[in-house]
Amino acid sequence: MSALTELIKQKTALLPEKTNAYRVADGKPWPGIFIDALADRLLVSVRDTSVPRGLQDLLQQTGSPVYLKRLDKDVKDAPEHFCGLEAPLRFEIQENGVRYIMDMAAGYSQGIFLDQRDNRAEVRRRCRPGMRLLNTFSYTGAFSVCAALAGATTTTLDLAQPCLSWCRENMELNGIDPSAHFFCKGDTLHWLDRFARQGRTFDAIVLDPPTFSRDEKGRIWRVEKDYGSLVAKAMTCLAPHGWILCTTNCRKVSHNQFRKLVLSGAPGAAIETSPMTFDFDGEDYLKTIWVSR
Ligand SMILES: C[S@@+](CC[C@H](N)C(=O)[O-])C[C@H]1O[C@@H](n2cnc3c(N)ncnc32)[C@H](O)[C@@H]1O
Repeated sequence: MSALTELIKQKTALLPEKTNAYRVADGKPWPGIFIDALADRLLVSVRDTSVPRGLQDLLQQTGSPVYLKRLDKDVKDAPEHFCGLEAPLRFEIQENGVRYIMDMAAGYSQGIFLDQRDNRAEVRRRCRPGMRLLNTFSYTGAFSVCAALAGATTTTLDLAQPCLSWCRENMELNGIDPSAHFFCKGDTLHWLDRFARQGRTFDAIVLDPPTFSRDEKGRIWRVEKDYGSLVAKAMTCLAPHGWILCTTNCRKVSHNQFRKLVLSGAPGAAIETSPMTFDFDGEDYLKTIWVSR
């Protein structure tokens, strides 16, 4: 059995049921190379390297459609077909039985961040019918879909209208009626201020921002500097007994620094941390803290 098929076998044996999207190789045994299985496709991401000849052969032997993406600094291109069969660029994956639309042609990101699988499952586990969840920086709304499946009423917020439309499609794919949920286009910080002024509160809030963001007026926001004030704003919209999922993939911030940032925005709050999902067994970069009042 090849190193690649051995990894696929090991990882699939540990996956939750009804899950066909996961990280096969996380920078090892091929340094700088990250391989994701997305249903029957493989996505190979390379950082400052190229795919070695031996791995090319192993990828070819899988018979899967294989796509290649460059993670090099300043490159933000969509993946390109690398080898194997050509397949439709738009397709579906399943995670814990939840269906999500993926799109290889959508740009640098394909529709879901696989490293958040356990956090999505935990959001679903913590939500109850009638709860109100605010999903900020929503991207394609995967957290909203999980909360809605548990019966929560979701408010999904993103700067980009196409992301909100994608979230609606993900909801429909899972039998959720999007018209029973709320969608807000715009800057998270502005909306949090607006909700606070209106006295609108939520029982749960998801804060999973990009490491760097520019608001509508061009002002720059960075995790390492501004996460604490984001948490503080979210706390003003949190109902009594509510919780906030604080998470970041920012590599510049250590686990300890992230804890301090979160607590600077929610002094005295109860916090719990979660580890990274098991298939991301390379760098321990994802930080997750659950804040409760
Ligand atoms: C890192 S992703 C968020 C990932 C998402 N939480 C998930 O689970 O898939 C970044 C998203 O944040 C959005 N975004 C960036 N800056 C924003 C801002 N200031 N306010 C609202 N959304 C923003 C982007 O449009 C993009 O969809």
